[in-house]
Amino acid sequence: MSIQSLYLISYIWLSIAIVVHVTMFFITAPFGRHTTEKWGITINNKLAWVLMEAPSLFIMLYFLVLGSNSFHSYVWILFAFWIIHYINRTFIYPLRIKSTPKKMPLAIAMSGAFFNIVNAGLNGYFLSELASPLDYSSKWLNSTHFIVGASMFVIGMMINWKADTILINLRKPGETGYKIPQGFLFDYISSPNLFGEIIEWSGFALMAYNLPALTFIVWTFANLVPRAKNHHDWYVKQFPEYPAKRKIVFPFLF
Ligand SMILES: NC(=O)c1ccc[n+]([C@@H]2O[C@H](COP(=O)([O-])OP(=O)(O)OC[C@H]3O[C@@H](n4cnc5c(N)ncnc54)[C@H](OP(=O)(O)O)[C@@H]3O)[C@@H](O)[C@H]2O)c1
Repeated sequence: MSIQSLYLISYIWLSIAIVVHVTMFFITAPFGRHTTEKWGITINNKLAWVLMEAPSLFIMLYFLVLGSNSFHSYVWILFAFWIIHYINRTFIYPLRIKSTPKKMPLAIAMSGAFFNIVNAGLNGYFLSELASPLDYSSKWLNSTHFIVGASMFVIGMMINWKADTILINLRKPGETGYKIPQGFLFDYISSPNLFGEIIEWSGFALMAYNLPALTFIVWTFANLVPRAKNHHDWYVKQFPEYPAKRKIVFPFLF
């Protein structure tokens, strides 16, 4: 595929993200606390997470190992960041969550898998086949955008992991209900895990400095901001004592 074709696909994919972003404020994605049987066949929640996220992990591994240019520059560092995130999301996160009886609509798992196939396909193909090794040379490693982006990625990932851990530990063994999370960034926002993920992929886009990475952060933002609003509205409805000054996903702002 030429770089022009990949850019064209990226621009079309970006436009779809904007439509999905607006739509998701009106249609709640039915997984986790919002799950429903109305979306057709449902499957085990943990299995659904593995099916959804595995394509992203394996597509990036494929391009890292078999791609033409993955080891002709420091571009492998970007693959490494991506792969570390997706090892957690594909295998570790589903093993840790305490939502065993919970189901997810197959349609959601399949659309999540499609989202991951396109994003990993665009990013992996671009980095291993189309990007110039000069763009990811030792000069890149010393650039401000790499250093700031890599720091944002690591900080965002730590926030995401810590917040996920706090949420997962709210339930004692055998419990299935929900509680109001307290402490850490939960004192400021309802969804620090989603905030951390947005910081993480913003950092990746800054490090990588290319169109497919920009496309991915736009999609991440498009998905996660409405999801955080759905979570926040759900808490407010569910718990009359929910702290009124807690924002949705960006501390002090939104
Ligand atoms: N990159 C993307 O586009 C994207 C999209 C979606 C999600 N994600 C990531 O995937 C992860 C999960 O997202 P999510 O929206 O499903 O997270 P979530 O609703 O915050 O749930 C995270 C885990 O904690 C449990 N939990 C949440 N709130 C709880 C509470 N108040 N009391 C007790 N248990 C609680 C959930 O159980 P239940 O499952 O039983 O509700 C689930 O196991 C996050 O790290 C997110 O960043 C990424």
